[in-house]
Amino acid sequence: MKAIKVGLLGIGTVGSGTFNVLRRNQDVIRGRAGRGIEIAMVADLNTERAREIVGDAAVVVSDAREVIANPEIDIVVELIGGYGIAKALVLEAIAAGKHVVTANKALLAVHGTEIFAAAHAKGVIVAFEAAVAGGIPIIKALREGLTANRIEWIAGIINGTTNFILSEMRGKGLDFGVVLKEAQRLGYAEADPTFDIEGVDAAHKATIMSAIAFGIPVQFDKAHVEGITKLQAADIKYAEQLGYRIKLLGIARRRSDLPNGGIELRVHPTLIPTQRLIANVEGAMNAVVVQGDAVGTTLYYGKGAGSEPTASAVIADLVDITRLHTADPDHRVPHLAFQPDAMNDTPILAMDDVVTAFYLRLCVADQAGVLSSITTILAENDISIDAVLQRESAEGEKQTDLIILTHDTVEGRMNKALSQMQALPTVLAPIVKLRKEELA
Ligand code: NDP
Ligand code: HSE
Repeated sequence: MKAIKVGLLGIGTVGSGTFNVLRRNQDVIRGRAGRGIEIAMVADLNTERAREIVGDAAVVVSDAREVIANPEIDIVVELIGGYGIAKALVLEAIAAGKHVVTANKALLAVHGTEIFAAAHAKGVIVAFEAAVAGGIPIIKALREGLTANRIEWIAGIINGTTNFILSEMRGKGLDFGVVLKEAQRLGYAEADPTFDIEGVDAAHKATIMSAIAFGIPVQFDKAHVEGITKLQAADIKYAEQLGYRIKLLGIARRRSDLPNGGIELRVHPTLIPTQRLIANVEGAMNAVVVQGDAVGTTLYYGKGAGSEPTASAVIADLVDITRLHTADPDHRVPHLAFQPDAMNDTPILAMDDVVTAFYLRLCVADQAGVLSSITTILAENDISIDAVLQRESAEGEKQTDLIILTHDTVEGRMNKALSQMQALPTVLAPIVKLRKEELA
């Protein structure tokens, strides 16, 4: 059978990895797909660099629309990134009846509803394994492997750049800026690295996973997003002393304790007990823990970024499409795991309604009665304390750090208690609040 023809839009970090792996492993991939998969056309703004990568194996053009217009092309792979031209090109490819593969989590988290509806109407596949956790096949695991389960929660280290930064800062004592530059050099970081360090990239991925896990539309605008830029070295140290590591986690949790249900969707630095496997995921590695009612806890670990690890997921999608594209569209695996008419409107909860435990660091005057005034406020707000640590103040020092770990509480109640504590004259600096998850 003749090879399926692929048009590649963008041949940067992931695009070049895709081209190289497809070429290197073409025999094994053909054996698995049932026919060859050939990148026949490549579009990139930098045609000279693109030609250096592909040689004469593919036609290189600068205008991506030439690829979409080519009737020979069966699958368009979008590896440009962003919401701008990438969105227009993906919608045009769908309108032209092409299947689409993309690694663009930003695009799907924000415009997924429109894109999946267009693909459904046209009977084409939009595949996006590389969009979440790079080389880890987490989309396939959630959509297919765990399809028997009611998913209870998902928690993941789903941004390699920030995990790399946190690991290097903690392990080697390196500065934030130095490590970020290295992550950029290694090809982990987004074109705009603020997406990584401010938690936006992780929130894009958590949004996509929440849709697949809970049968809701992608709703990035409802996600709570906090990155690592405000994290202080002192808190990493105190957390270690208390038996925790701080990781940037993407969390999606079903709340069946609420009368109308609800879903927590949040990204923030999180204390995790050091003995959990996920707390020991270091460098640019990603890991996702999924709790299903039948299977229990499962953990997926691997490279979440980089040229060939991400290419591995892009090519898995190409093989899937090659195997499935002749199947009746109504009998393919649905884009977001649930059939379009089985999606539900369970709301994503406001952050005030989220339940979690907290780490608090208060810089307080070292004098009698301070601890009791703080614990009184917590008690009055029905917040139960799990542990307290007070740094011994140095000779002559008039202030100290007071660290409090709480049990689970509602975030709104914690915020009320925090504003009361902050108003005490003995609390000398803004209180640091981090969330803590047991993940058990
Ligand atoms: P790169 O910036 O390395 O590559 C993008 C390529 O697209 C560049 O060669 C760029 O050319 C080209 N390009 C830009 N605009 C156009 C256009 N209009 N037409 C054709 N080509 C264009 O990005 P990555 O490979 O890192 O990322 C690609 C996608 O994969 C993004 O959505 C990213 O979020 C996602 N992703 C990336 C991962 C990674 O590890 N890097 C991991 C998982 C997902 P020029 O350089 O000249 O602008
Ligand atoms: N910038 C992303 C990361 C790339 O660091 O994880 C993979 O999506």
